[in-house]
Amino acid sequence: MERRSPARRVRRALLPRPQSPRTARLVRLDSGSRALRELRDALLRNPREIPCKYFYDDAGSALFEQITRLPEYFPTRTERALLEARASAIVESAGGRKLTDVVELGSGAASKTVSLLDAALAAGGRPRYVAIDISAHALRRTQEILEAARPEIPVEQVLADYTGDLQLPPKPAGGRRLVLFLGGTIGNDEDEEAIKLLSRVREHMEPDDLLLLGANLITDPAAIHLAYNDAAGVTAAFNRNLLLNVNSFARSNFDPEKFDHYAPYIVEKRRIEMWLVAREAIEVQLGRLAGTLKLARGEGIRTEISRRFSREEVLRLIDAAGFTPERWIESPDARFGLALGLARASLRGL
Ligand code: AVJ
Repeated sequence: MERRSPARRVRRALLPRPQSPRTARLVRLDSGSRALRELRDALLRNPREIPCKYFYDDAGSALFEQITRLPEYFPTRTERALLEARASAIVESAGGRKLTDVVELGSGAASKTVSLLDAALAAGGRPRYVAIDISAHALRRTQEILEAARPEIPVEQVLADYTGDLQLPPKPAGGRRLVLFLGGTIGNDEDEEAIKLLSRVREHMEPDDLLLLGANLITDPAAIHLAYNDAAGVTAAFNRNLLLNVNSFARSNFDPEKFDHYAPYIVEKRRIEMWLVAREAIEVQLGRLAGTLKLARGEGIRTEISRRFSREEVLRLIDAAGFTPERWIESPDARFGLALGLARASLRGL
């Protein structure tokens, strides 16, 4: 199987508009000394970490898709139902017919997005869909799903790490853009990083463009715990696969079978933490990162944080990043929320 390292930086993140809307054009990614440094720094930190974007090579994106279908993993289906129920209201707030561009950061399999595109079509618009993802596999799935479901919608694919460079294709004059950042991925960052990321997204938008941000909300810890500790072990496989992706990127020799998957919900911090914990003393050759990593038995590497938010926290985040909260939509079980924010002309206080 082809393995693409997610951390390779995109040389030219923005794809030219394809001849035919169905043409998939992928940019070339470079080997990224910046990414190597980032990974090395993370592994040397206390606690040791590996950036969670390393989950999403082709195999990892496929495993994540499997996670979204697990009985225990409720966020995806909760968000999907919410989007389906409220798509026309969201599109109406986003300008209805005037909505010309739907841009998704981390499009994944894009299965949740179809209802929004449908609502835009129903409002009399002719939206274009721009999918940005770090995994070529995920982008292919996006294309397949949309081609089958809505052949009339033009799709542009951007293979990019949006935590690094981000560029958005220009939108038609008089058009309006809706940027989607769904799935609760914003919870992978602490406040400071999250605000930085959203601010960068804001810089690439124009006043009147909109952001739709999905966030996991605070709910009972036992349910959250199960969602990251499924009986079939898919999340454990997803967690270990990150080491294979690191190996192919860094030419290191992590043995995933020597690590336990451990994913507790930390009540005080209101977040899941995903860890890989050494079952025995391990020595890892770090390849292009140079050097050896020695792990004692029981020593862990943190691979992800996944936060739960209150409504106020989500609205404060988008406000701090330059978006005026327009709408808040919450699932009936209060486990998932969507915030719609209007890009402000200037940052607050300026
Ligand atoms: C794709 C980042 C939203 O945090 O729940 C799923 C990733 N990690 N199971 C999440 C994930 C473990 C997921 N996000």
